[in-house]
Order: sequence, then C-alpha cells, then structure tokens
Amino acid sequence: MARSKIWTALPSWIIYPLGLIPALYYFAAAFTNKLGADPLAVLENALGEWALIFLVAGLMVTPLMWLTRINLVKYRRAVGLVAFAYVVLHLTVYLVLDKQFFWGEIWSDLIKRPYITIGALAFLLLLPLAITSNNRSIRKLGSQSWRKLHRLVYPAALLGAIHYALLEKTWQTEPLMYVAAVLALIGLRGIRFRIRSKAT
Ligand code: HEM
Repeated sequence: MARSKIWTALPSWIIYPLGLIPALYYFAAAFTNKLGADPLAVLENALGEWALIFLVAGLMVTPLMWLTRINLVKYRRAVGLVAFAYVVLHLTVYLVLDKQFFWGEIWSDLIKRPYITIGALAFLLLLPLAITSNNRSIRKLGSQSWRKLHRLVYPAALLGAIHYALLEKTWQTEPLMYVAAVLALIGLRGIRFRIRSKAT
C-alpha cells in the first residue's frame, strides 16, 4: 500500500469510539472507586486534559502535512468533535457532580476565578465550531466564511491551555507545555501564511 494510503485506510468514524475510550475508562474507574481519595477531581481534570489533547491533535493535522506530507485531514473533523465532547463532559462533571447546580457558587466561580472565566470563554468559542462541523453548515456558510469561523479553534485552544496553566498557584511544567505547543502551532501557521502570500 502506498505510504499516503496507509494513513487514510481507516474510516474517519473510527476516531469516535477510539477517542472516547479514555472517557469510558475514567467514568468506569470513578464509579467503581478506583480514582483515589478525590475521584471527582481526577475525573474532572482527566476530561479537561483529554479535551486539550484532542484540540492540539486537531491543530497538528495541517502542519504535519506541510512538514511530512502525512495527510490526516480526513480525520480532523472527528478529532475536533471528540475534543468538544470531552469539553462538554468536563463541563457537565463540573456543573452536575462538582457544583450540583448551585448556580450561586457557579456564578461566583465565573467572576472570581480567572481560570474558570477563561475556561468558559474557551467553551463559548468552541460552541459555534462544534455546531457548524457538518457538511450542511459548510454549504450554507460558504467555504471561505466557514474557514474563517473555524480559525477560532486557535484562540479557543490557547484559552484552554491558559485555563489549565492558571489552575495552580505556581507555574507547572505540563500546562505550560500545552501553552507553548499551541503558541508554536499558531506561529507555524503565521509563517506558512507569510510564505504563501509572498509567493503569490
Ligand atoms: C465553562 C467551561 C469550563 C469550566 C467551568 C471548567 C472547570 C474546570 C475546573 C473546576 C477544573 C479543576 C478541577 C479540579 O481542580 O478538581 C478544570 C481543570 C481543567 N480544565 Fe476546565 N473548565 C472549563 C473549560 C475547559 C476547556 C474548554 C478546556 C480545554 C480545552 C479545559 C481544560 C481543563 C484542563 C486541561 C484542566 C486541568 C487538568 C489537569 O489538572 O490534569 N477546561 N476545569
């Protein structure tokens, strides 16, 4: 099989069941008491981190193609939707299990804790992207406007990574690595754009 074919041999729907395996694992472990002393925090954090992992993976598809010619564009939409599913699960755990719909507490978190405000902003940016991740929306919006809208994934991923970095009172390496990765991907996109516009 030609190299380019190997990468696209699997159907794109396979990303959904594969991508949701970590969520199943964490929910099963949480409900069978296998997540240690604070299962809720572990579950909530794991879902947030997987959201970020899939968001960054989605952002890497295009640079991977530029740098290696490996073309995974076929899977990008599914990867993005899986990322969004993790964000929704993360938010649901926060609202239902963590805050148990105490709207006063949720509101005070939103206005007093910058990391929650930033997480909520990231969620709001991702919402229109998830809603329009289908062929009908591409046709309706036109591919130019659809592409413009979907550039929001860059600030959304950056806000998601900053949300993670602000969680602890001191700077931690792992969240800062996500911030750096997203900034590098934004930088790479900018460089590519400049090279292209110089060439035309
Ligand atoms: C309204 C939206 C959001 C709310 C209310 C929220 C809330 C939270 C809370 C309360 C935690 C800390 C849990 C704990 O300490 O036990 C957390 C952690 C986290 N959230 Fe969010 N979040 C939101 C959106 C997002 C988004 C959009 C992303 C990613 C794109 C994200 C990624 C993360 C990550 C990576 C962590 C830390 C994971 C770890 O420590 O391993 N969150 N979030």
